Parts: sequence; C-alpha cells; structure tokens
Amino acid sequence: MENFYISTAISYTNGPPHMGHAYEVIAADVIARFNRLNGKRVFFLTGTDEHGLKVQQKAEALKIKPEELAYDMSQTFIKMSKELNCSNDDFIRTSEERHKKAVNDIWLKMEENGDIYLGEYSGWYSVVDEAFYQESELKKNEKDEYISPNNNNVEWVDEKSYFFKLSNYEDKLLDLYKKNEDFIQPRSRLNEIRNFVKNGLNDISISRKGLEWGIKVPNDSEHSIYVWVDALTNYISALNWPDEKCDKFKSFWPADIHLIGKDITRFHAVYWPAFLFSAGIEIPKKVFAHGFILNKGEKMSKSLGNIEDPMELINSFGVDQLRYFLMRETIFGNDGNYSDELLINRVNSDLSNDLGNLSQRCLSMVNKHCNSKVPEKNSLKIVDQELLDLLEIKVNDILEMMDNYQINSYIEEVFNIVSLTNKYFSDQKPWELKNNDLMRMNSVLWVTVEMIRKISIMLQPVMPESCKRLLDILCVKDDQRTFDFIEDKFSLISGKSIKEPVIIFPKIKYKK
Ligand code: MSP
Repeated sequence: MENFYISTAISYTNGPPHMGHAYEVIAADVIARFNRLNGKRVFFLTGTDEHGLKVQQKAEALKIKPEELAYDMSQTFIKMSKELNCSNDDFIRTSEERHKKAVNDIWLKMEENGDIYLGEYSGWYSVVDEAFYQESELKKNEKDEYISPNNNNVEWVDEKSYFFKLSNYEDKLLDLYKKNEDFIQPRSRLNEIRNFVKNGLNDISISRKGLEWGIKVPNDSEHSIYVWVDALTNYISALNWPDEKCDKFKSFWPADIHLIGKDITRFHAVYWPAFLFSAGIEIPKKVFAHGFILNKGEKMSKSLGNIEDPMELINSFGVDQLRYFLMRETIFGNDGNYSDELLINRVNSDLSNDLGNLSQRCLSMVNKHCNSKVPEKNSLKIVDQELLDLLEIKVNDILEMMDNYQINSYIEEVFNIVSLTNKYFSDQKPWELKNNDLMRMNSVLWVTVEMIRKISIMLQPVMPESCKRLLDILCVKDDQRTFDFIEDKFSLISGKSIKEPVIIFPKIKYKK
C-alpha cells in the first residue's frame, strides 16, 4: 500500500478558530479522504501552535497562564475538526513533550552542522505575524508608522540573538525550485518565492530573549527558540522523529503535501527546507498554498467585526453543506468569498435541486414501484449505455484532478454528471412508463440508481455524511465504497433490497 502524508498549518492559540481555519482543515480532509478511497494509507495531521509572544501576550491580557489559554484554545480547535467531520489521524500540540524533544534535537543538528551562531539582532518584529522584517519589507500606515506586509504593528528589537545561516542555502533552494517546479503550488506562489530567494537571503534570527512561553535554546536558557522553528518541527515531531527506529517517520516522511495559507508560504517554502537541509533530513514533496476566505471581498478580522464562526454555520446550514460550498465555490489556490447568500444559493441549486431531487425522485419510485429492490436491468438502450459509459470514460480524468489538488474542478465534473443524469431521468420519464412499459421503467431506474451509487462514491471526500446516507439507502457494503468499486463490474445487483429514501439535502430558506 502506498503511503500518503498530508498536514495543515498548526493554528495559533491566541483565539478561537474562524472560517480560515475551517477552510484549511476541510480542504485537507477532502484530500485525505480522497487518498484513502484511492487505496493509500494516509496520515493526516493538524494541530495547534501554542508558544510565542502572541499567545503569551494574549494570556497576560486575560490574566491567565499561557498554558491555560493554549489548552482551552486547543480544545476549541479539536472540537472544530470533529464537528467538521475531519478525519485527522493525529492532533499535535506544540506544548507536548514529544514535540519539545524534536525541536531541541533539530536545533542541535543545525548547530552541529555549523549553521547556528550567536549575534545581535537589530530590526523589526511583528508579534501578530511572529516574524522578523527588514525595513525594506515594511509599509507605512496613515499615522506614518511602519507596519508589516500583513498590516500588523511592528516593534523595534535590539537584542542578542541566535542566527541561522540561511544565506548558505540560497543556491540549494533555487536548485530545488528548478528541479522540482511543483514543489510550491500554485505556480504564482513559486514565482514569488523564487524571486524572493533570488534577491539574496540574509541569515535569520531564530531565538528571542525574554520570551517566557517557549522552548529554551539547548544549553542557553536565556533564550527561547523562535516560534517558527518550533512550529515547523511539528511536521516531524508528530511522526516521532528523531526516534530513528520509528516506523511512522520511515513510512510517512517526506510529507506528500503541507497544505497552508498563502500568507505563510515563505516559512514553508524557504525556511523549512533550509532547516531540513541543515539538519540532514529529507524535504517535503510539496507545499500547497491555498487562498484566503474573504467576507464580501474583505479580509476577515476582529476589528472589522466580519469573522464568521464555522460552528454557527454548521448549526445553521449543516456540515456537508458548508464543506461543499467552501470546496466548490472557489478555484483551489485562489481567494474565495463567503456569505450566507452565496452558500444558500449554491446548496439549494446543486444539492437540493440537482443531486437531492434526482435521488429523491428516483429512489421514491424504486421504493414504490420496485418493491424497495434494485430494479431489473433488462436490456439497455444506447441512451442508457451512453450515460453509464460517460462516467466510465471520464472517471480516471476526474480522479486525476484531485491528485492535482484541483478540488473545485473535481466537484464540478462530478456535478456535470449529476446534471446529465438528471436530464436522462427527465427525458426518459419513468413515471409515465410505469403505466405502459414496466420493463423499460425498470431499466431507466436501474441506470439512475447505478449512477447515484457511482456519484455518491465519488463525492464521499467532500460530503462524507450525506454520501454515507445515500450509500446506506442503496445498501452498498462498507468495504465496497472505495474508488475501485466505481467500475461497472461492481454495479448494483437487481433484486437486492434497498432502504426507504429520506431527504438528504433539504432546501434552505433565506432569512435576512
Ligand atoms: N501558527 C502559524 C502556522 C504554523 S505552521 C507550522 C499560523 N497560524 S494561524 O492560526 O494564523 O493560521 C493557520 C492557518 O490558517 C494558516 O495556514 C493560515 O494561512 C490560515 N488562514 C488564516 N486565515 C485565513 C483565511 N481567512 N482564509 C483561509 N485561510 C487562512 O499561521
């Protein structure tokens, strides 16, 4: 069995999860589930990034200990993953011992390799971004103060600091991007990163003095390790690195994909591979930077008061409805918009009207007129065979789309097939045939339920619960729901019982 490792970014615990976090973990879950159904052994990791000034300062403001805040917030992230029906195999918290050990060891490896030295950092730091900036990277706000490229406050820092010799890795990184042009996706991000590296890399500060809430630098407790060195290491600490005997690391590293948001591409596509080169560890196969979920075109932020709570949306609209909308609406890799109206329109048209209506109409007829049994196939006409063949011909291309992380195109293609099946059903009018040609009615219903079976198998990664309900109605065995079973030779057998249909995608009413 081929192994497949996918990770999300780990979220800061200075506040509860929002739509951006939900978007990322849903996308990762869709990819993880897809790969499992495609016969791979998957390790899907998500977690929380708990150390650093950002969390420390938030805890101070709340007059609680950072560990308390980190614990409480990590629980809200765990809850969100569960409620979103995410199938992560592990959830790493950077305050765990297994993680701290790995961070300590990766530091020692980089030091052994001569890439860490003590110096003096004079420059800007943004606590919100947890990032050091050169003056040339900063912008100015309306008060003529410097702000970070992400519009966050920066402060001047003058302190002793450990540095990592990033400048040593310029050529190696450029070579990596050249040899493996898919290392960073989408392509636009590769170009950005390549230009950044081509402009010359400076050594980076990798410790903070006075940071209480962090992992101490080995043999120098005055300094804490920079939160990004700490955080990035989660991708291997969760595999029990540096325990060389550990099967998990051997089986799953290098990761197939680090799925992250576009704002943190540099950390993943420049710093992380450089740290790994230095520590003598293989680098991940791919960094995929998705876009941002915006609220009516604007970035979600607390100050604008336009943050959507994913838990509330699940309660209002349903988990699969939210998953479907987020994955279908936006080209994966681009920014996308969220609004209740957009979601309702999408859900009502695609899920209630198309897939829901098709399955409800067809399965009700089967229930009523075929005695709740898979209809007789009888002899098929060209029009029947054409519909069945269409999916058979297209299926590999559609599956390949998901292998290339074109999530929205995958869904779109499956829904084109849903539309064609709907058209077939309307054209063949089985409800009229029931009075004069029962054999033909049976054939039309057989073709339609068979198409519903295949469509449901294909949509499982996106809407696991609803597809499970559809496949349960069709009495498809649990071990016959992987992509191998899309093939015609596993078609539904006439005469086998199926269950009474229930409405899976009720229409949502728009409330202002
Ligand atoms: N802790 C770092 C990541 C360390 S990974 C080794 C971090 N945390 S975060 O909580 O700010 O963001 C977590 C993920 O959510 C990031 O990939 C980020 O890009 C993503 N998103 C945050 N807001 C987002 C949107 N509005 N839309 C989509 N994703 C966005 O960065």
